[in-house]
Amino acid sequence: MDKFIILFLFLFLNISNVFTENVIPESIKLAFTKSKDQMRVTWYTINETKAPTVLFSTEMFEPIQDSSFTSIGEIISYDTIGFDGKINTAVMSSLSPSTMYFYCVGDKSLNIWSSIFNFTTNQFDAPFGKVIPFTTSFFGDMGWIEGDSLNSDVYTVDNLISRINEIQILHHVGDIAYADKQKPYNLPGNQTIWNKFQNSISPLSSHLPYLTCPGNHDRFIDLSVYTKTWQMPVDFESDSWYSYDYNGIHFVGFSSEHDYFPLSSQHTWIENDLKQYRKSNPNGWIVMYSHRPFYCSVVWDWCSNIDVVESKKIYLWSLEDLLYKYNVDLFISGHAHSYERTLPVFKNKIMGDVESPKATVHIVVGTGGDVEGEDMIWQPSQQWTTGLRTSINGFGLLNVINSTTLNWQFVANINNTIIDEFNLTKGQFDF
Ligand SMILES: *[C@@H]1O[C@H](CO)[C@@H](O)[C@H](O)[C@H]1NC(C)=O
Ligand SMILES: *[C@@H]1O[C@H](CO)[C@@H](O)[C@H](O)[C@H]1NC(C)=O
Ligand SMILES: *[C@@H]1O[C@H](CO)[C@@H](O)[C@H](O)[C@H]1NC(C)=O
Ligand SMILES: *[C@@H]1O[C@H](CO)[C@@H](O)[C@H](O)[C@H]1NC(C)=O
Ligand SMILES: *[C@@H]1O[C@H](CO)[C@@H](O)[C@H](O)[C@H]1NC(C)=O
Ligand SMILES: *[C@@H]1O[C@H](CO)[C@@H](O)[C@H](O)[C@H]1NC(C)=O
Ligand SMILES: [Fe+2]
Repeated sequence: MDKFIILFLFLFLNISNVFTENVIPESIKLAFTKSKDQMRVTWYTINETKAPTVLFSTEMFEPIQDSSFTSIGEIISYDTIGFDGKINTAVMSSLSPSTMYFYCVGDKSLNIWSSIFNFTTNQFDAPFGKVIPFTTSFFGDMGWIEGDSLNSDVYTVDNLISRINEIQILHHVGDIAYADKQKPYNLPGNQTIWNKFQNSISPLSSHLPYLTCPGNHDRFIDLSVYTKTWQMPVDFESDSWYSYDYNGIHFVGFSSEHDYFPLSSQHTWIENDLKQYRKSNPNGWIVMYSHRPFYCSVVWDWCSNIDVVESKKIYLWSLEDLLYKYNVDLFISGHAHSYERTLPVFKNKIMGDVESPKATVHIVVGTGGDVEGEDMIWQPSQQWTTGLRTSINGFGLLNVINSTTLNWQFVANINNTIIDEFNLTKGQFDF
């Protein structure tokens, strides 16, 4: 063969190798969409793919043969200095209820595919008032830490992986990667940390929907890196609030990092969502979550109850009435790096107990293991406390039992053991 042709082939193969490595899917994450018969998958590539594609099927398949359903997605660019690479996102549609799907993502035109993952859909149209048992995890303030330090997300992720077959949904209630922490001050956020975090949760998020709401450490660059990366079932791309139903439970996630003042678009949206759901489901469970708590008692500015910070007063004033008016059963948050739960409480007053709640029960679970460490010092107990509060790392498990009972457990990371548990009976608040 002519040596020029050999040289040409050599160069071509080399370039094409470099190129294919750059479009290998990373950070694969599932999330719900606004349609119950869909599942969205989002992944990262260093370079732009030609045709970002998801292949999915109820049968195991070989991507090469392409015998499965195909959906072409879209490519989203970071339009910000310091962040590059591409976010690829595609939707799997017309899914059947209670069915296991196999899928892989990649580039159809280059025939490059991830390994095959699977997920299972829920029972989309539960008969009216019917609740089908399932388990979902809640945790906040996780982040990614270099190495395997004891105070680390590694434990949360490993413990969740050990329970992956018992869990159907994951909720990360803000302060996601802590990419704004270790950075030179001229940079908006560190993409290495942002991406390493997503890779570390991939074994979980490629199998289970990973739902988020933003925390203060996700606010860099006007939250644009957050909103592009975490494709949630929102109405508009710029919104960070959404709701969805799963096996008869109504979940509402909102943003404590946006305007929540009455008449703001978020406040109006939350009220409409709760009102609409309650109209047709007077006895249905509502579980709400956001980054910042309404009730917490570590010694730290946001949680100070002696001299409540102005911003928290406004938060309570703006939103607490809605939780009461629409009978929100459970509210889960992070932000304080601690775990505690309250008795049913409204405007600082105890309202019944977990067997007959007359107001929302609040749980703080900002114990994912972030780089800042835990908040260790507690204020004297507030009247609404259950006495259960701890500063060790861990995560919550919400076990949905039926239409009248929810079970909550807190798992300590150190030994992957349940160290707190309670049952919540469905309450009817008196308005
Ligand atoms: C991949 O993207 C980088 C910038 O992120 C660019 O410099 C490089 O040329 C791209 N490579 C290919 C093969 O497109
Ligand atoms: C589905 O994925 C889970 C989690 O990765 C795995 O443990 C399980 O073996 C997979 N199931 C099948 C049938 O491949
Ligand atoms: C980003 O974080 C990584 C991992 O901690 C670190 O090695 C790197 O120096 C940081 N990059 C910048 C630009 O600070
Ligand atoms: C729900 O489960 C609880 C706890 O097992 C049980 O006491 C209750 O009777 C159940 N309620 C219904 C409506 O099945
Ligand atoms: C697990 O660790 C927690 C926190 O240190 C401790 O309170 C609990 O007793 C331990 N449980 C078991 C079964 O080891
Ligand atoms: C919650 O209810 C279940 C089912 O009735 C029961 O087995 C469990 O012991 C209860 N847990 C607590 C902490 O009361
Ligand atoms: Fe926070």
